[in-house]
Amino acid sequence: MDKIVIQGGRRLHGEVSVSGSKNAALPILISSLLTGEPCSYQDIPKLADIRTTLRLLVGLGARVDRDAWNDGSGDLTIQAGRITNFEASYDLVKTMRASFLVIGPLVARFGEARVSTPGGCAIGARPIDIHLKGLEALGASIEQSHGYIEARATKLRGAKIYLDFPSVGATENLMMAAALAEGITVIENAAKEPEIEDLAAALNAMGANVDGAGSDIIIIEGVERLHGVTHRVIPDRIEAGSFVIAAALTGGDVLVKGARPGHLDSFLIKLKEAGVMLETEADGIRVKTNGKIKSVDVKTLPYPGFATDLQAQMMVLMAVANGVSVITETIFENRFMHAQELDRMGAQIKLEGNRAVVRGVRELSGAPVMASDLRASVALVLAGLVASGTTEVSRVYHLDRGYERIEQKLSNLGAQIARVKE
Ligand code: UD1
Repeated sequence: MDKIVIQGGRRLHGEVSVSGSKNAALPILISSLLTGEPCSYQDIPKLADIRTTLRLLVGLGARVDRDAWNDGSGDLTIQAGRITNFEASYDLVKTMRASFLVIGPLVARFGEARVSTPGGCAIGARPIDIHLKGLEALGASIEQSHGYIEARATKLRGAKIYLDFPSVGATENLMMAAALAEGITVIENAAKEPEIEDLAAALNAMGANVDGAGSDIIIIEGVERLHGVTHRVIPDRIEAGSFVIAAALTGGDVLVKGARPGHLDSFLIKLKEAGVMLETEADGIRVKTNGKIKSVDVKTLPYPGFATDLQAQMMVLMAVANGVSVITETIFENRFMHAQELDRMGAQIKLEGNRAVVRGVRELSGAPVMASDLRASVALVLAGLVASGTTEVSRVYHLDRGYERIEQKLSNLGAQIARVKE
């Protein structure tokens, strides 16, 4: 197992390029199941979760041409011409919950799917009831046995669906299923994340009729069949936000290239409130600080609210800010595992249910720490950048699920960071 070793205290400066969005790429790659024609995708980041998705698609019978991607180009082609298997196994779904997204496209195109239930995960229970209720509304029969969900339908039919919560995954699953259903589907209280809009753009480029993505009502007029596509995924707003915090933490001057300010509104407003200087440039966001960060309160919410996927990183910034900050997590019930590790580095964080009260300290001190999930792991790396002395982050396989070449990107900005084999 690898670990990341950081000598803190270096000011970051220069330019860093944001990779393609993991959370946009995962459903978009899976949407290739909706057609037998080749689908080409660009800017697909080189991440463990993408490899898991490709393994899943190959296991179903899809052909994946990944030579260019393996060589570092970001280009992939998938052709789901002959699907021979309709099952996503427990091994895959437990490794990556987004594997559950194959259920919608499989049942829509082939009338059957057998997908393992994901179970709980480190950050919370994460049920799939909203996905299943929506599929049932579209006419699928759903049965659960031996830890698997079996969905069947001769033909899905459009329906009006109200989501009890604007779940990102459920919105994506249902959009894909409805694209091939007969008639019109209306998804109310839909998730509004930029990744939903990107999936809608990819589906529409395949010949689907998806309208309203990015708002809370999405209308999909089903079509008989979809065709191949070439689609470039959007830049990763969470990776972008993580670099913005890296720069702010270290008193740096960094251009985060490819970052789209429009995808990060609530996050950028909070950072400005905290005293970080941000400028929008033609090709990204420039971040500067005079080294003084003020404490601000933060509450995670569905988009366009403050992203839960940036909560851990923001907590690191607040850990060294001037004052006391209250961070409230409303999306996941157990997403503060980084707090204990940050405390080991000298942070002063008190947890009260879904609130973390963070009293800023003058300095963090490097320590051996353990990553518990994807965003917690990047938070520990960020803390290591600003801490005095050496920080060793273990279990970095969590990091590799969502951050492409992070140690290389940070070291190009002047950080002293290396990956070592344990
Ligand atoms: C996606 C993102 C993840 C992000 C999350 C919230 C991907 C691959 N992952 O995850 O990085 O943190 O959105 O922005 O895009 N819920 C239910 N029942 C359901 C579905 C969800 O109760 O059927 C609950 C979950 O337990 C959670 C909340 O809704 O508390 C949000 O989940 P959801 O929006 O579905 O997140 P994911 O799609 O899993």
